[in-house]
Amino acid sequence: MELRNYSDVLVIGTGVAGLCAAIEAADNGLKVSLITKNSDPAESNTLYAQGGIVGPGYDDSPDLIFQDILKAGSYINNRDAVRLVAEEGPAMVEQFLVDRVNVRFSRDEKGGYELTREAAHSVRRILHSRDKTGFALSKGLLSTALEHENISFHSSLMALDLISNCHHSSDHQQKYRKNSILGAYVLDEEKRKVISFFAPSVIIATGGVGALYEHTSNPSCATGDGIAMAYRAGASVINSEYIQFHPTTLYHRDSENFLISESLRGEGAVLLNRYRQPFMNRYNKELKDLAPRDEVSRAIYNEMEETGSDCVYLDAREIKEHKLDERFPQIFDTCRKLDIDIREDLIPVVPAAHYFCGGIKTDLDGSAGIDGLYAVGESACTGLHGANRLASISLLEGVVFGLRAARHIAAQDRRNVASLIETIPDWVYPRKEESFDSILIDSDMETIRTVMWNYVGIRRSKKRLERALADLNYLRHRVEKFYKQSYVTREIVELRNAVETAIIITRGALSNPKSLGCHYIPDKGESRE
Ligand code: SIN
Repeated sequence: MELRNYSDVLVIGTGVAGLCAAIEAADNGLKVSLITKNSDPAESNTLYAQGGIVGPGYDDSPDLIFQDILKAGSYINNRDAVRLVAEEGPAMVEQFLVDRVNVRFSRDEKGGYELTREAAHSVRRILHSRDKTGFALSKGLLSTALEHENISFHSSLMALDLISNCHHSSDHQQKYRKNSILGAYVLDEEKRKVISFFAPSVIIATGGVGALYEHTSNPSCATGDGIAMAYRAGASVINSEYIQFHPTTLYHRDSENFLISESLRGEGAVLLNRYRQPFMNRYNKELKDLAPRDEVSRAIYNEMEETGSDCVYLDAREIKEHKLDERFPQIFDTCRKLDIDIREDLIPVVPAAHYFCGGIKTDLDGSAGIDGLYAVGESACTGLHGANRLASISLLEGVVFGLRAARHIAAQDRRNVASLIETIPDWVYPRKEESFDSILIDSDMETIRTVMWNYVGIRRSKKRLERALADLNYLRHRVEKFYKQSYVTREIVELRNAVETAIIITRGALSNPKSLGCHYIPDKGESRE
């Protein structure tokens, strides 16, 4: 590959949002470069989504969806975003995912969608592919993207930073210009080269931040890359205090990051504490085990603390309507390999970081407020989720805003940036390269995970957050120094992004004293610090 690559749109990330955006832009005649840092293009949070996606339900209405999203989000959501997703989302699932991309959702005997339920939904409205919904979406979208003649696809390429016309320190005139994003510097690690990917429109779809936490349902690639890059380029990041913790990930020494889908509870599974007693009725009398995620995660955390236990248990034995091995094959097989037969045994579970409800501030077309810069999916924040995301809305969000961003770009004329692109210098490598010490990188990453889990986790306090910020600021200072002096690698870049994003989250949490949704600061009396 040349050191300069040109296209109409650069999409960074191959989860649901990035793939929807790339396909829709390409369908509109635009030339798209689609890149992912992973060698397996399917690797993303989307791949691991189990439960499902809100689609066209039978007893449903946009008003009901609107109310449920707002209630889960503690009513601080952006109502315009919620209204739009509730009204346009289910039809987009049908028209784009089913008709265009051929995603196969589970069907009932009559051929209609088999709908499931998850926490805080007032009706059954969730389309699923058994418990591998993310896998089904990823497969359909990736094969469509890979075959598309307008998409040039590259894996194992790590974006380092966005290219803007305002970030060249040697050029004083840049201060007077309007910031315009023109592409990204991208590392090809195998060739040890940094390539300039130029495009008048760049869509960040790099997903979330789960990998900044000790315990998470996310894969290790979720290091907040796009959020850090956009922030460095001048974009705003909002609602960063709202980190959602999924109540149930598998607790087993031989298993990492494995989600136990909320749809198990939707189908009747019940949480039990150390003494095998149900407890959710004490925390939410009306919704019990199907209360919003933030409430269930806090209740579990509390039960674990009060009973001195490392986990709680999920009892799926009472689910009679389905054969568990057929309806939940992935969960069944994974547990079975660890000697847990979910038809007979309790499943040990703990909460873990799951979803970033905040992100790069965008409007309802995915535009991030800087010319040429868009963000979609988990890396973006339209305000849709408020203080806590409703289950099975994340894949839907990716579809809706991925498509809308692509359509918005297709309707713009950004040919005028061609002359700006010609003025951008190639990447400058450091003059003297320090050697790469993976032990330092790994231990710095471990520090971030421990700090975030202990101080910026499910239960927060001002003291803990202040301590986290101090530790992270010090770490950032060291990492930046190292980054500037060493040959760039994926590990160093991820570390740099992780510490930047961790600081953004911690600052967001410190600047908001109001305990709400996923940002939980107990009253002084309740604090166990
Ligand atoms: C789950 O299956 O429990 C996760 C679905 C989601 O995060 O919306």
